[in-house]
Amino acid sequence: MPGLLSQSQDPGGFFQVKGLHPTFGAEVHGVDLATISDEAFAELLTLMAKYGFLVLRDTGLDDTTHVEFSRRFGELDDIRPYMTGGRKPRYEYYELFDAGNVDADGKPLAVDSPRSHYGKGNGFFHVDSSFNPRRASYSLLRACRLPPPGTGGNTDFADSRTAFDTLPDELKQRLLDNHYAGCHSLHASRKRGSPEFFADLKPEDFPMHRHALVQVHESSDRMNLYIGAHLHHINGLSDTESWQLIWALTGWATRPENTVSVEWENEGDLIIWDNRAVLHRAAGGSYEGKYARDLRRTTVHDASSTAWGLNEQVDTRPGFNSNGKSQTARALGV
Ligand SMILES: [Fe+2]
Repeated sequence: MPGLLSQSQDPGGFFQVKGLHPTFGAEVHGVDLATISDEAFAELLTLMAKYGFLVLRDTGLDDTTHVEFSRRFGELDDIRPYMTGGRKPRYEYYELFDAGNVDADGKPLAVDSPRSHYGKGNGFFHVDSSFNPRRASYSLLRACRLPPPGTGGNTDFADSRTAFDTLPDELKQRLLDNHYAGCHSLHASRKRGSPEFFADLKPEDFPMHRHALVQVHESSDRMNLYIGAHLHHINGLSDTESWQLIWALTGWATRPENTVSVEWENEGDLIIWDNRAVLHRAAGGSYEGKYARDLRRTTVHDASSTAWGLNEQVDTRPGFNSNGKSQTARALGV
């Protein structure tokens, strides 16, 4: 079967590796990330290239060491584009994205709050930051506070490299022949997540950014489908053709046999994924509106040759700006 992993352990012996799925994903143990050596870090990158995402339990990282460790992966993105309208982060570092459901007082957000509606789009499989001109490589998500066991809140992954490998031959050839560009929009995925709340928001009114639909994942030299919930349309196709292709590829990539669900076990757990090789989503649960789930994420700017896709290399990131067009979006304070 294409994409099937050999179960050999890591060659340098720094880590104990337990595969989580036949084609991708592993849980690794054995190294203190706050003091990791250059040799062990190089091996961690090798494991990332092979598995696409790694789960590291009970790392002991705090905000400072999380950000410092993340800098080993490259230049970090920050949340300034999302902090307009006077909104401030809950913590010291602008490099930490707030991926939780916690309000300014540390309480769980109400399920009907504007931020809850904003977050619903993350329940669809996506890649982080594909809506930016320069896309993201790695995301590093850490649990600070977890809801009680059994109340949900898993993070799910889909193997977008194996999804390409296993496509029907005719569809695969069509993608290789046409060099399609996907147009990505944060506004599109917010609206898709909560269509009524964002009824007056038109993604077409905002800039979108283009990245090749199919491209080589350079650190593994495998092909990858670069899709996900921010993908608004495919350049050059009619609306109907575009949606048919997007849904065919999304449906294929997110079949149950191509996905795995990861449960957060301890505060300090960290999951690192490569947005150029996997899709992910936030699974819901009965915790929503009842219990705090405080997760914080650093995001690394891609440094590969296709980092900027088909976009101008300018330091603009769309963030979420209602531009005066949406009362509901203004209510978010962003
Ligand atoms: Fe995400």
